Amino acid sequence: MSGLASGRVIGPAVLERFLGEGMVGTVWLARHRSLDIPVAVKVLREDKLRHDGRYRERFKREARLAATLDHPGIVRVLDFGDEEGMPYMVMEYVDGSSLDRHLRKRKEPFTDHTVLRILLSVAQALASAHAQGIIHRDLKPANLLLSAKGILKIADLGLARIEGGVSLTQERVAVGSPAYMAPECFQEGHTADAVSDLYSLGVIGYYLAFGRLPYDGSLQDVMRGHLSGSADFTLPTRCAPRTVSLIRRLMAVDRHARHQSAGEAAGDMRTLLQGGDTTRIGKSTAGSSSDLANLAKFLASSSSEVDGRTIVHTTKTERRLVWLILLGLVAVAVAGLIYYGASAPTAVSRMPTPPTPAPTQGAAPAQ
Ligand SMILES: Nc1ncnc2c1ncn2[C@@H]1O[C@H](COP(=O)(O)OP(=O)(O)O)[C@@H](O)[C@H]1O
Ligand SMILES: [Mg+2]
Repeated sequence: MSGLASGRVIGPAVLERFLGEGMVGTVWLARHRSLDIPVAVKVLREDKLRHDGRYRERFKREARLAATLDHPGIVRVLDFGDEEGMPYMVMEYVDGSSLDRHLRKRKEPFTDHTVLRILLSVAQALASAHAQGIIHRDLKPANLLLSAKGILKIADLGLARIEGGVSLTQERVAVGSPAYMAPECFQEGHTADAVSDLYSLGVIGYYLAFGRLPYDGSLQDVMRGHLSGSADFTLPTRCAPRTVSLIRRLMAVDRHARHQSAGEAAGDMRTLLQGGDTTRIGKSTAGSSSDLANLAKFLASSSSEVDGRTIVHTTKTERRLVWLILLGLVAVAVAGLIYYGASAPTAVSRMPTPPTPAPTQGAAPAQ
């Protein structure tokens, strides 16, 4: 934790309590000294990029951009700066818990209504960010914070590039969490865009609907899954078939088969929520408007723990290996654009664009 402790002054705030740790730093509940309100302070971890002038410039630029976002479904960035060489970000404090924590505790899939409510809430906030040209790039349950009042807020919007800062000094570096990353993000020459965020939203939807990730196992397995679109949509679920179709469309390998904007996806979700399919699925929360609030209550009553996270990058040697593996795999099949790095799955490189498009099994249209 870089020697941080409660009572330490970071920019305009005094740290009070450690909240969690990600790949790039730690998050603290703090008190804004002049405003006297609780805030969340993310202090980026000390590393070599800290001393890189271009990194600082990018940090400033991205933080300013993120601070322009003003939406109830987005965690507000209030300030940023540098405290004795440690870059920090002051954010709105969300008194609640991440969806990730809940997913890891929960034993059964969510009801159709809750799945749609969560997806719609995120899609609406995304639409607002995308309209300002801000892409998340690391959308995952750990970045969805549910307040005690049941308001779901996207955290770290627009910050993935800051956090993954490795892209400043290395080429072809992927930023994001492999389990939720769109297939194109593994390919060279593609950068994540709004439609890539929608894919990640689809993976979140899959997790909510089926109670498990579509692709797990080794990093190699996960990447193979994303690139081939082999997710099993026939698992038991409390979701209506049309909701499953919507998730499937969001998760289409072929980016053109997905919804082309968060607004379009939100429109479909709204239609499904109003369409009656939701009322015959699920028991306790179907049709209820307070399901997110109930979920928030459940989260508040569970003990705290640090969420898992991954922001990934590669070394040169790893990238060379990827090329070798890739040459072999391309000769055999399209879907095998895989590389698994060192024993701990902390690194992944972008793969060169395959010679032919990957299959698009996940492209069923929403109805
Ligand atoms: N604005 C916030 N308000 C309350 N808690 C937060 C806030 N931002 C982050 N957290 C908590 O801190 C944890 C660590 O955040 P972060 O460093 O972004 O890593 P990750 O998103 O990968 O989990 C989060 O999972 C969440 O529990
Ligand atoms: Mg985060």
